[in-house]
Amino acid sequence: MALIPYDDRDGQIWMDGKLVPWRDCKLHFLTHSLHYGGGIFEGVRCYGGKIFKLNEHSQRLLDGCKTMDMKIEYTLEQINQACIDAVRANNITDGYLRPLAWRGAQQIGVSAPLAKVHLAVAAWDWPQYYKGDLLEKGISVMTSKWRRPAPDTAPVHAKASGLYMICTISKHAAEAEGCNDALMLDYRGHVAELTSANLFMVKDGALHTPTPDCFLNGITRQTVIQMAEDMGLKVHVRTILPEDLKTGEEFFATGTAAEITPIGKIDGVEYKVGPITRKIREAYSALVRGGAVEKVA
Ligand SMILES: Cc1ncc(COP(=O)(O)O)c(C=O)c1O
Repeated sequence: MALIPYDDRDGQIWMDGKLVPWRDCKLHFLTHSLHYGGGIFEGVRCYGGKIFKLNEHSQRLLDGCKTMDMKIEYTLEQINQACIDAVRANNITDGYLRPLAWRGAQQIGVSAPLAKVHLAVAAWDWPQYYKGDLLEKGISVMTSKWRRPAPDTAPVHAKASGLYMICTISKHAAEAEGCNDALMLDYRGHVAELTSANLFMVKDGALHTPTPDCFLNGITRQTVIQMAEDMGLKVHVRTILPEDLKTGEEFFATGTAAEITPIGKIDGVEYKVGPITRKIREAYSALVRGGAVEKVA
């Protein structure tokens, strides 16, 4: 498959208050966040031209900037508007948005209180992350040797660029073994999440998902918990140990990009893509397009 580089596309990117031609959206090599990993980003989707959970994503970006001591000069409403402008400028119907706040090149060095905090939002057409057969059979995952850090080690609840370095190397290692993604344990050895999605297990007709005390409490995860409860399903938010996984009947991942992705194999053990995963997938797909949630139990 030919790759279309992300810096060589038509369209416009919203950058620091105005729309700029896509190929002109450039940064200097001495940009602080490029060296020190201090970016805060979002992954947002739009369906039928309408941005899903826009407020929640913009608020998470603002919260992340606060945690990182990045003095962003935009309000929630302005960030929302930047996202809407990026979608409109590129005529996106079903697509993905990538807002990013970063420290500029005014200062280089660990301390950079005077570095300007920039914001840009790109939006592009992006129907699905995983497609076809993979959604029928489920993706395969492999436990990473890297672990999600403790909450007093890193800003674990922010969607901070630096936290993704272990996700990239974990996913590369999983792909090298023929898997689609890595399963990450936390610093205690408890099951945490995938590299860019949260994890759910189905057992005895109920959903089980790890307590998000050291990783992102995904907006999709929260949506699915609410949706499942509205459907009449029980949801257990709890500690899940690696050995508990073998007692699960179905597994799926949730995330803005991944939406509801069935998991068919964990560390070589196969699981079926079962009825509850399918129901949740259908219900989520209807919900993001403005549909109502129906009771199943
Ligand atoms: C590490 C990680 N966990 C979980 C998620 C799921 O979060 P959300 O549902 O808000 O997209 C993401 C995606 O943003 C992620 O990158």
